[in-house]
Amino acid sequence: MELIKLLYIAVSLVSLTLVSLPPITPQSYACDQRNPETTNFLFCDTSLSYEDRVNDLVSRLTLKEKVQQLGSGSTGVSRLGIPAYEWWSEANHGIFSSRYAAKFNGSMPRATTFPAVILTGASFNEKLWLKMGKVVSDEGRAMYNVGQAGLTYWAPTVNVFRDPRWGRGQESPGEDPLMVSRYGVKYVNGLQDVGDERVSGSNSRLKVSACCKHYSAYDLEYWGGVDRYHFDAMVTKQDMEDTYQPPFRSCVKEGHASCVMCSYNRVNGVPSCFDSQLLQGVVRNQWNLNGYIVTDCQALQTYLKCNYTPTPEDAVALALKAGVTMECSIVMQNYTENAIHLNKTDESIVNQALTYNYIVLMRLGFFDGNPKSLQFGSLGPSDVCADDHQQLAIDAARQGIVLLENKGALPLSNDKTSNLAVIGPNGNATFTLLSVYAGMPCNITTPLQGLQKYVSAVTYEAGCDSASCPNQTRIAAAVEVAAAADVVVLIMGLDETMEGEWIDRDNLTFPGYQEQLINSVVAATNGVVVLVIMSGGPIDIAFAKNDNRIGAILWVGYPGQGGGDAIAQVLFGDYNPAGRSPFTWYPKEYTEQVPMSNMNMRANTFPNFPGRTYRFYTGNPVYDFGHGLSYSTFTKSIISAPSGFLVQLNSPTSRNHSGEAIDVSAVRNCNELNMKLVVEVSNTGSMTGDHVVLIFWRPPSSTEVNGEPNKELVGFKRVKVKQGEKRNVSFGIKLCKRMSVADRAGTRKLVTGKHVITVGSSSEQQIKHTTDLRVSANAMQ
Ligand SMILES: *[C@@H]1O[C@H](CO)[C@@H](O)[C@H](O)[C@H]1NC(C)=O
Ligand SMILES: *[C@@H]1O[C@H](CO)[C@@H](O)[C@H](O)[C@H]1NC(C)=O
Ligand SMILES: *[C@@H]1O[C@H](CO)[C@@H](O)[C@H](O)[C@H]1NC(C)=O
Ligand SMILES: *[C@@H]1O[C@H](CO)[C@@H](O)[C@H](O)[C@H]1NC(C)=O
Ligand SMILES: *[C@@H]1O[C@H](CO)[C@@H](O)[C@H](O)[C@H]1NC(C)=O
Ligand SMILES: *[C@@H]1O[C@H](CO)[C@@H](O)[C@H](O)[C@H]1NC(C)=O
Ligand SMILES: *[C@@H]1O[C@H](CO)[C@@H](O)[C@H](O)[C@H]1NC(C)=O
Ligand SMILES: *[C@@H]1O[C@H](CO)[C@@H](O)[C@H](O)[C@H]1NC(C)=O
Ligand SMILES: *[C@@H]1O[C@H](CO)[C@@H](O)[C@H](O)[C@H]1NC(C)=O
Repeated sequence: MELIKLLYIAVSLVSLTLVSLPPITPQSYACDQRNPETTNFLFCDTSLSYEDRVNDLVSRLTLKEKVQQLGSGSTGVSRLGIPAYEWWSEANHGIFSSRYAAKFNGSMPRATTFPAVILTGASFNEKLWLKMGKVVSDEGRAMYNVGQAGLTYWAPTVNVFRDPRWGRGQESPGEDPLMVSRYGVKYVNGLQDVGDERVSGSNSRLKVSACCKHYSAYDLEYWGGVDRYHFDAMVTKQDMEDTYQPPFRSCVKEGHASCVMCSYNRVNGVPSCFDSQLLQGVVRNQWNLNGYIVTDCQALQTYLKCNYTPTPEDAVALALKAGVTMECSIVMQNYTENAIHLNKTDESIVNQALTYNYIVLMRLGFFDGNPKSLQFGSLGPSDVCADDHQQLAIDAARQGIVLLENKGALPLSNDKTSNLAVIGPNGNATFTLLSVYAGMPCNITTPLQGLQKYVSAVTYEAGCDSASCPNQTRIAAAVEVAAAADVVVLIMGLDETMEGEWIDRDNLTFPGYQEQLINSVVAATNGVVVLVIMSGGPIDIAFAKNDNRIGAILWVGYPGQGGGDAIAQVLFGDYNPAGRSPFTWYPKEYTEQVPMSNMNMRANTFPNFPGRTYRFYTGNPVYDFGHGLSYSTFTKSIISAPSGFLVQLNSPTSRNHSGEAIDVSAVRNCNELNMKLVVEVSNTGSMTGDHVVLIFWRPPSSTEVNGEPNKELVGFKRVKVKQGEKRNVSFGIKLCKRMSVADRAGTRKLVTGKHVITVGSSSEQQIKHTTDLRVSANAMQ
């Protein structure tokens, strides 16, 4: 099984690299003022509107020239002074290097590498997400200015982390649709916004362009013999409305992202990039995307291999018709002209696609001449890997780290630690810290190096050859070191060979002999034992949770270039942890109960199906979504919250009982109804720290709506509270958007009756408040 899987991965990687793409030319710019001809081109005239400029540009192109611009490796039009432009760049958590993206050489050989998004997600800190986006776009612009990077980045990933086995869960901020939505909006703002002012319209200038991916219902790599290219995600209207769509809807409507990427998989039988209802219907027409729609790379080739269409010309025509405006790869460039000759598509559709694409480049300033004379033109080598950027990489990791368990072992004290043993295959991890889609980091601090800054006598034994820990040969040496130590830090977990692009997990246990290594070390030492888990997804660690000899457990995601410093600062109490788990920690049996390919969120949609994520899971998790401890103690109280809402309808209703489900479109001024909530947070412990206030909601049950969530996150804020002090934290929760439920037809309904608001996750002090929602007798006419 494993071998077949590896073989499969190897073969697919080979087939990917065999695809020939045009040679890469340095990123450059159009409308170079040194060329006098450009003064004759209206498309170079910055006093005109983007639309007028693009119309002028497209009208000058021959059909042959046009089709060459439909691929990510666009050829440019040299007779008009438009250079080739590579659209494919990546920036999931820092500028990524690859053949098609940024080049790490010359004056900028490195860039700041932030933690895997799943860890930054765990910070529940919108300000951090925005700041990170700004740093990444500063570095991207700096690299663009010298021709080492593009302006169009295919990030963020806003697919919810639906199944704990998903190898790319680490690229997503978490399993909750609201949290993923907020991450997407903030990261997109950080990448795209040109100033500190809020984005006014969606047609504003862009710093760099962001792309929400992968649309839609994409979150399976290779599981149970099905790969992402052949996977048909069967999604109910209800799950679509309240789980799969929200992050993309926010990314486009609130984040004003200038791109959406369609995914490899099918959704209810239709390949995503051929789905005109989703792309043209929803993204373009309902959400009003002002930007381009790009296919995932080689999606059209894979559709052809799957025989979804008979010919490449059909594939091109279907994609264009569905709303795709650009392809990552070369099928469109090769076959669009012939598709037009065969009357499978029309030149006007091509013109429309090019218009969308070029407007994005115009907004980026690509047609405004030398970028060094534009805004951001002064960004250069000193802005990449700048000290404050590297500090932010450490801070992002610290803010995300989740203290899962603390039986008094933490924080460690360096005075009292004379002999520290670091044990585990990830104890001196370098590239594993960086996670997937990472560039060349400015510098890496490994966990061992981070801890060496606190204690001089540190011994290190990996205990396994690698994270897969295939045999027990090195356990004895680890046991020996542990026996002599007064503090043992076990740094265990996964790596990119077990979770990543193309690689889903089969189980939720520690790989190989890791569990045995942990147990052997714990049995051998009288010292304090701390378990640190490095992974993108959850592991069933119930055995460690229940072992009182393990004094504390931390989850550190893949913490990025500053991960070693972040881990050490948290362990020694220089940073008070406040991260919250962005996913549910399921017991290992979960993988037997739930086929990964089953997209249902709700429990009992088929016999014995326990449901997915904290919103619908009916089993007992090892740790719940939102769980996370601190070295301090916080108490909360509700200062103010409405006791009820009396909503008015647009027309009278004959029924009026608790549990009535009212279509949100029938509620008067629905979008303006806001639930204001003030929570007082008080730090009653002995250490200053951050606290994440989580607001959950549970709707009244209604026979008219089936499948209400157990509970659902409707608001969150991370605040700093000094030791002994208090702070008020305010929330404005949109009633119709957040406190409505999707019915089976995917329609949003407000349910009358008692809505329960709970402040706090299931493992902390919880305060409940009930708000009664009723319908006013005074219906509007
Ligand atoms: C950087 O790499 C690119 C692509 O490999 C190459 O074309 C370019 O000349 C290199 N630049 C420097 C300064 O080495
Ligand atoms: C596209 O055309 C080029 C040049 O003719 C060819 O080498 C390449 O194989 C074609 N690729 C595809 C996917 O059609
Ligand atoms: C081309 O297709 C269009 C729309 O499908 C059709 O109306 C038209 O008659 C076709 N033209 C030719 C020449 O086949
Ligand atoms: C830890 O990793 C660093 C960076 O790769 C390396 O220089 C160092 O020798 C390693 N230390 C041990 C004890 O393996
Ligand atoms: C890189 O990180 C190591 C380990 O933390 C540190 O000793 C070194 O000073 C750093 N180098 C730079 C240039 O920041
Ligand atoms: C243990 O695994 C390593 C590879 O990780 C291998 O080199 C070594 O030979 C194995 N030892 C035994 C005793 O199987
Ligand atoms: C669980 O999966 C990991 C890879 O993710 C593998 O190394 C390990 O052998 C598997 N364990 C079992 C018991 O199948
Ligand atoms: C929170 O608000 C309440 C009501 O306005 C006020 O009494 C209290 O002092 C505030 N607490 C803080 C810490 O500002
Ligand atoms: C619904 O019932 C509430 C009391 O339960 C009442 O105040 C309200 O007027 C009724 N609304 C309608 C439209 O009958």
